Amino acid sequence: MAMVCLSDFEAYAKKYLPKIAWDFFAAGADDCCTRDENILAYKRIHFRPRMLRDVSMMDIRTKLLGTEISFPVGIAPTGFHQLAWPDGEKSTARAAKAMNTCYIASTYSTCTLEEISAAAPGGLRWFQLYIHRNRAVSQQLVQRAEALGFQGLVLTADLPYTGKRRDDVRNGFRLPPHMKLKNLEGAFEVCKMSPSIDPSVTWNDIYWLRSLTHLPIIIKGILTKEDAELAVRHGVQGIIVSNHGGRQLDGGPATIDALVEVVEAVQGSIEVYLDGGIRKGSDVLKALALGAKCVFIGRPALWGLAYKGEEGLQDVLRILQDEFRLSMALAGCASVSEIGRHLVQFSKL
Ligand code: FNR
Repeated sequence: MAMVCLSDFEAYAKKYLPKIAWDFFAAGADDCCTRDENILAYKRIHFRPRMLRDVSMMDIRTKLLGTEISFPVGIAPTGFHQLAWPDGEKSTARAAKAMNTCYIASTYSTCTLEEISAAAPGGLRWFQLYIHRNRAVSQQLVQRAEALGFQGLVLTADLPYTGKRRDDVRNGFRLPPHMKLKNLEGAFEVCKMSPSIDPSVTWNDIYWLRSLTHLPIIIKGILTKEDAELAVRHGVQGIIVSNHGGRQLDGGPATIDALVEVVEAVQGSIEVYLDGGIRKGSDVLKALALGAKCVFIGRPALWGLAYKGEEGLQDVLRILQDEFRLSMALAGCASVSEIGRHLVQFSKL
C-alpha cells in the first residue's frame, strides 16, 4: 500500500491496531464535536496565494525558544506509545531526532524518561507534566527531566479530570498488564489514573514550578485571550493552543479558531504554538499564517508508530514536511519568515 498522505496511516492504524487501542487513540469527549471541528475548521480558511516570487530556494527551518528545528512541526505529548509499537516512546524519540524536530514526552509514557533520553541522545525534547496530588512525585519528575537534558517543561492545563470518552468507557479501557506507566511506578495505581491528577491546580502553581526548575515553562491547553494574558502575566515562555484533540470539554472551539485571539492577546511577547487537527502541510501553513510559531501532531504520530515504529513516524513527518514546503512555494513564500496574516482569509460561508 502506497503511503501518500496522513489519512493512509490513519486507515492502516484503524485496520491493524487492536480495537481497544484504536478506540483509545481516536477518542474524543462526548459527541466528539470539538475533535471533528479541529479538522473541519481548516476547510473554512482559504489562502491568498502570491505569484512570481522566486521559490527556487526554500527555507522551512524555524526556531523553538531559540533552538533550530528542521520545519515547524513537532510531536505533541500522547500517552501509551507501546499500544502502537513495542518499543514505544523510544521509537518516537529516535524518529523526532532523525527528523530534527521536537518531541514532547508525556507523563504517561510507557518508557522511562531515562530510556527515552538514551534512545536518542541529544535530540530536542520537552517534558509534559500533569501535576499530581502527591506533589513530591511531580517535583521528582520535573527535576529528573531537567537533569536528563529535556529543554522545556510543558504543563497541561486542560485536564483537572479526564473527559468522558464513550468508547473507552464501553471498552473498559485500561493498559494491558505488561505495560506500565513507568515514570509513575509506585506513585499510584495504574487503573486509577485520573483521580491522582490534582484538580486544585491554579495559576499560582506556575510559581511553584518556577521554584523547581530553570527550564522554560510552556502552558498547554489555552483557548482564550483571558488565559493567554494570565499566562504572560505569570511569566511562562510559551503557550500551546490546544483542546487536547477534543478529548476534554466537548463544545469548545477548534484550535485554529482560538489561535487568533490568543496571538492577538500576547502581542508577540511569548511564543504561541498549536495542536489539534493538523493533517496536511497546508494546515501547518494556515496555522503559521495565523501566528503559530510551530504546530504539534498527536494522533498522526501514533498512526506512524502503528505503521512501522520509528520508520513509520519518520514517514509521517517527512510527508508533512514535503507537503508544507510545497504549500509554501505555491503560496509564494520562500522562507518561514515570509508567512503572515496576509496569506489567509476566513470563508464567509
Ligand atoms: C493525547 N493528548 C495528551 N496531552 C497531554 O498533554 N498529555 C498526554 O498524555 C496526552 N495523551 C494523549 C493521548 C492520546 C491518545 C491523544 C489522541 C491525545 C493530547 C495531545 O497532546 C494533543 O493535544 C492532541 O492529540 C492534538 O490533536 P491531534 O493532533 O491528535 O488532532
